[in-house]
Amino acid sequence: MDTSPESIRHKLAQAGIHGPSSNNLRLYEDRLTRFFAREYQRYTDSPVSLNELGISTDEGPIMEETELLMDRHYDEDLDFFNSFLDARYHAYSMAYYGDTPTSIRQSEATLEEAQHAKFDLIAERAQIEGHERVFNIGCGFGSLETYLLERFPNLQIVGITPSKVQVAYLRQRMKDPNDPLGSARFTLMEGAFDQLPLNSLGTKRYNLVISVAVLEQVRNMSAILRRISGLLTPQGQTFHHFITSRYVIPQFLDPTRTRIGWYFPGGRVWPHDEFSRHSEHFDLAGYWFVNGLNYWRTLDEWHRRFWEEAPFLYANTFDAGDIAHWNNYFSLCKAVFAPMDGNFYGNSHYLFRARH
Ligand SMILES: C[S@@+](CC[C@H](N)C(=O)[O-])C[C@H]1O[C@@H](n2cnc3c(N)ncnc32)[C@H](O)[C@@H]1O
Repeated sequence: MDTSPESIRHKLAQAGIHGPSSNNLRLYEDRLTRFFAREYQRYTDSPVSLNELGISTDEGPIMEETELLMDRHYDEDLDFFNSFLDARYHAYSMAYYGDTPTSIRQSEATLEEAQHAKFDLIAERAQIEGHERVFNIGCGFGSLETYLLERFPNLQIVGITPSKVQVAYLRQRMKDPNDPLGSARFTLMEGAFDQLPLNSLGTKRYNLVISVAVLEQVRNMSAILRRISGLLTPQGQTFHHFITSRYVIPQFLDPTRTRIGWYFPGGRVWPHDEFSRHSEHFDLAGYWFVNGLNYWRTLDEWHRRFWEEAPFLYANTFDAGDIAHWNNYFSLCKAVFAPMDGNFYGNSHYLFRARH
């Protein structure tokens, strides 16, 4: 069998699988983008409220479908994630290129630099000073940990993830004393944040509880904030970064109804204002909308890197169906962030202070 990259690409093209620079895929992404643009316009012109839809963020389980989510997404082969994530942080979340559509489009930052800029922005908005005990919900491949441990020599951080693939990756890195994750200032917990007994996470212990690209999985916002408040010291703060939309898009609140929900079982896209309303345990100290073109650019860069590595993945790990599946994933995600110059669908940042 000819396993040269050219021959594999030819085979993929014959199976109707095309890369991000091809006309075929561009046309497909343009069509998808126009579809989402129409939907966003529809709900901008005639907004519907969560109340009208009978949806409450004060009830139900904290998160849903974690096992299925790991199975379908986060426990995919490590070769897949290695194929596209930035080498320095392995961040699996939006990078930050700028705050306006023009600055994002014109930015000359590499993916690595833009991931670094994202963590700089988060550190600033979360008001990190450098001596904190931090608890990071959904630590992924240790991206935030790598950044914080390198930047702040006195900070300690606990990361938690239920993903076996991520845990195996992190444990490997923790063996290396030259790796920031090899530091005694990093502790890894394995499991689901919403499921483990609160006292096993460290009651009243942390100055900051943080999450990056995780609360897309949240259903009961009151309950997760109650849980977080149990981990914080009386002066503690909590900061969260996750995907939101400007207005409610009803189908994005039911993960069983969308293709995105297939890639992220239990995932939802909440309107920007919703999390900020939850002041039962906290005072809101600030919240921000981050333009979605940042995610469009991140995804486009991931997509190109993935496609570059597709022959290697095909020769070693994936069949054509897997390549098509993840190739479509990048196209679909790019199309949801692209409309309205990134002003409708992006990420939100929220900072809360414990009330005592
Ligand atoms: C999109 S990744 C973000 C990873 C990392 N924060 C980053 O920015 O690179 C989402 C992370 O949330 C984790 N996650 C999902 N459900 C979780 C749960 N119930 N408890 C803890 N972590 C969870 C996943 O395993 C994954 O590590």
